[in-house]
Amino acid sequence: MNVLGIETSCDETGVAVYSSLRGLLAHALFSQVKIHAEYGGVVPELASRDHVRKLIPLIRRVLDEAKLSQADIDGIAYTAGPGLIGALLVGASVARSLAWAWNVPSVAVHHMEGHLLAPMLEPTPPQYPFVALLVSGGHTQLVRVDSIGKYETLGESLDDAAGEAFDKTAKMLGLGYPGGPALAKLAETGVPGRFKFPRPMTDRPGLDFSFSGLKTHTLTTLAATAGTEQDKADVAWAFQEAVVETLIIKCRRALKQCGFKRLVVAGGVSANRLMREMLGQMALKEGYQVFFPRLEFCTDNGAMIAYAGCQRLLQNPVESPVIFSRPRWPLDELPPA
Ligand code: KG4
Ligand code: ZN
Repeated sequence: MNVLGIETSCDETGVAVYSSLRGLLAHALFSQVKIHAEYGGVVPELASRDHVRKLIPLIRRVLDEAKLSQADIDGIAYTAGPGLIGALLVGASVARSLAWAWNVPSVAVHHMEGHLLAPMLEPTPPQYPFVALLVSGGHTQLVRVDSIGKYETLGESLDDAAGEAFDKTAKMLGLGYPGGPALAKLAETGVPGRFKFPRPMTDRPGLDFSFSGLKTHTLTTLAATAGTEQDKADVAWAFQEAVVETLIIKCRRALKQCGFKRLVVAGGVSANRLMREMLGQMALKEGYQVFFPRLEFCTDNGAMIAYAGCQRLLQNPVESPVIFSRPRWPLDELPPA
């Protein structure tokens, strides 16, 4: 089965074709970073309009690269939520219309399920069950994964998501959007250990997160310095270390609670180099296996949607002819595949 995947939940237009027999056949991405950069964050209306412009050309390109014609496509997967409603509706409308015209089923994919399954596209994918840490711009969640669709949220952020905390802190440090990669780069020139930031909510039991206090901590720490480039780099280093260590402490706790040995880390922040290094070391030392998507599939992409949609279509190819979009959509509400 060849499935066309369409991702338009936020500021990237992602398209891919995944084959249940041959794996990922082609994928393409258009990032809207340049469009939103001058506003310091994503402007939803501009995002929707650009998805309209880019989606059809990207679909043509991906089909060409995969050397497939429309007749070879057996199903169409699209991100139905969570995300920006206007952006979601572009993907949903195009996907449903193509499915109608090509007479194939379509399937509404949960964006975070897409992230969660992204490591399945790698040469050595994880086996079920595992614990998943999903860290993106909108979500921070620890999930117990028994199989596709059997998800139990173990903990989540009570305020800012990890990526959001990176983005907001980056702004305070005078860095552009998107802040995560910019802050990580600045931190590389920081002096380790000059500042020590708190590890929020690690001193009490539970698997929830809270990152908004780190923003205030950044502000007060920065205000007590002369505000030089080196000061900012040192603050960036301490902030990044605090977020990564907090995430790792909770991952270890979740693994122990479930009695699992496998950990999947996905979503935009899983591209963070320090996080990949430190989790790798922790896993090696404590006998866990950790799985990440390749860097380009950590952030939003069409490949993860094509993969997730294919798994669901293989189980249940019938979807009622409605355009389905949900800006808010708890992962736990998904049916098992
Ligand atoms: O998964 P994603 O592409 O979009 C959402 O579903 O939200 O995640 C984007 C988030 C942004 O907040 C971005 O700053 C963060 O991931 N991010 C990073 C890095 N690369 C992207 N955060 C820290 N370090 C990175 N290298
Ligand atoms: Zn995402």
